[in-house]
Amino acid sequence: MHNETTEISSNIHQAVKVLKSSGLVAFPTETVYGLGANARDCEAVKRIFEVKGRPSDHPVIVHISKAEQMHEWAQNIPAVAWQLAKAFWPGPLTLILPRLGSVSNAVTGGLDTVALRVPEHPIALALLNAFGSGIAAPSANRYGRVSPTSSEDVREELGDSVDLILDGGRCSVGIESTIIDLSTRTPKVLRPGKITDEELNSILDMTTEGDEQITTRCPGDKSSHYAPNTRVVLSTVENLEENIQKYAHKEAKTGLLSPQMPPSLTENIAWLEVIDDIEKLAHELYSILRQADHRGLHVLIIVMPEDEGIGHAVRDRLRRAAGLGAVI
Ligand code: TXA
Ligand code: MG
Repeated sequence: MHNETTEISSNIHQAVKVLKSSGLVAFPTETVYGLGANARDCEAVKRIFEVKGRPSDHPVIVHISKAEQMHEWAQNIPAVAWQLAKAFWPGPLTLILPRLGSVSNAVTGGLDTVALRVPEHPIALALLNAFGSGIAAPSANRYGRVSPTSSEDVREELGDSVDLILDGGRCSVGIESTIIDLSTRTPKVLRPGKITDEELNSILDMTTEGDEQITTRCPGDKSSHYAPNTRVVLSTVENLEENIQKYAHKEAKTGLLSPQMPPSLTENIAWLEVIDDIEKLAHELYSILRQADHRGLHVLIIVMPEDEGIGHAVRDRLRRAAGLGAVI
């Protein structure tokens, strides 16, 4: 235990050195791994975009260690931001706020807002505390690909182009944070995540006039986001049999992810994963999409979970993995 603690703190020390010398550090968060740079260092932030192959007008989230640091990046911070931070930080929630003029365009993609989040993973928090300032970090995958949920995934995505990878095991949530835009009069969810509309509304009701309830609307980023190479086919329980008949034939290498054993288990299903728990599905989803690629599957049939709790966010990611765009 002592050795482990010493090792973690020496890795954190090393990571801070890398960030301070304009390098890139991949680090675990409770959602997915991030590819981090000093958010005050334009050149370092620009390197994130090069390494990811991401267009430079896409803004990145600034990770901070505590809510009070919102003042260092945002202005005109509404009361509801403090309430949401109090309720959900550290945790999988990102707040979009009007930015301070000192925040670089490399971080905001030229927008007049900035995205802020205090992550919950102990290694992310230790890194942020030791670094003492904001770390700009998108998910540590190449542009348009599935987000990494383990340090091995990061290595697979980015190889040696990242200076240091901090290993924090598998991410506990498994899908990206909920993003809520607080920069306009009506708060709006831009990306669903583990923190649900119901949970957000319970705080918004107390702090706003409560005129309008938020419902998720998703960002207009490209619809094939989070996509593996394997073709993803979405199914309901009702039309599963039909989809199996259609896609699981001898010539196609077909996988199936379902909450229950399929009615007729044909020998043409090359790989079967049965997961009947929504939280577990969120936790495993990206790893399963990666494995589908590793196994060289042509088609992966996935039975959509119910639209409740984190299921809403999982459905959003599944629609994107299938190239159908964000959930409505
Ligand atoms: O869970 C997460 O949020 C992970 C971990 C690493 O924190 N990060 C993550 O970052 O998913 P990224 O860059 O892969 O996704 C962030 C999304 C992008 O779609 C980006 O366009 C949006 O947040 N975003 C960032 N700043 C924004 C802003 N000022 N206004 C609107 N959208 C913004
Ligand atoms: Mg991403």
